[in-house]
Amino acid sequence: MSGQRLFLFALLGLFSSCVAVAQQQQPMPPAAEQPHVIPPPDPPRGGPQITFNSVYVEEPYVAITFDDGPHATLTPKLLDMLAARKLKATFFVIGKNAVEYPQIMKRIVQEGHELANHSWSHPNLGKMGDDGVRSQLQKTDDAIKAAAGARTTLFRPPYGSITPRQKQWIYDSLGYRTIIWDVDPFDWKRPGPGVIRDRIVTQSRPGSIILLHDIHPGSVEAVPQTLDQLTAKGFKFATVSELLAMAKTPPPKPKATVTPIPHTRTGEPVTPPPSPSPTARRATTPAASPATAPPSSPRPAEPTGTPRG
Ligand code: NI
Repeated sequence: MSGQRLFLFALLGLFSSCVAVAQQQQPMPPAAEQPHVIPPPDPPRGGPQITFNSVYVEEPYVAITFDDGPHATLTPKLLDMLAARKLKATFFVIGKNAVEYPQIMKRIVQEGHELANHSWSHPNLGKMGDDGVRSQLQKTDDAIKAAAGARTTLFRPPYGSITPRQKQWIYDSLGYRTIIWDVDPFDWKRPGPGVIRDRIVTQSRPGSIILLHDIHPGSVEAVPQTLDQLTAKGFKFATVSELLAMAKTPPPKPKATVTPIPHTRTGEPVTPPPSPSPTARRATTPAASPATAPPSSPRPAEPTGTPRG
């Protein structure tokens, strides 16, 4: 091998080891700094429903959920806001944070909120093996039990990343139902409290599960006005478990009916009679519901699978 070629090989070796070191030292992205995607709906199967993006309810209840905490200062601030309004929320905590802030965990429980499992260290569970996933959930389960005195049966995968097979064994062996969301204000992108508030207030429907993070100042700052505007629209708040307990089977969708167009003897369609004037229509239409009433057509329980985040 010529000296020149040897030099080139040495240079290549040095370069690839530098790349390897750089990759190892690359910091993990902080929790909730990545897009959250609604996983595809479960394939049809027998047995109980184990994934929930929203539920069908007959009362205007929503569940507001906070992920990735507890946070040393923001979670207590948020608890004050909820207490001032006597409203209940659900906290999908990270196990590592839960053991770091046991007092905040206890306060969450004492004030009537719900604790739920959001993994130990916020990894992408959809790309992990079963043993790793089990450890992530079990360690957080233990941390929640230590704080609350009881375990939770609600779990939310970080970034919404989970496979149908994983959800099934997580349900079968750990008893966890997978809770996703249907209202995502993308607060992790820090669009500002006003934008976060408006997105939530516009998107919420009876039975909605609202996604927020109590680790971003702007998200917590958005909470008072969000809660007040949702309340003004007629919404009430429940924990996720309470919302699931209220779930009803949605009524069957009305079948689309096709009205045949009458034809003349020559085969030409008959010109339809003119529609009544707006005044005549108004006279026969029942009075519109007040602007403050919540939307009366809740979403169906099953998600559409549209990715978000
Ligand atoms: Ni998260």
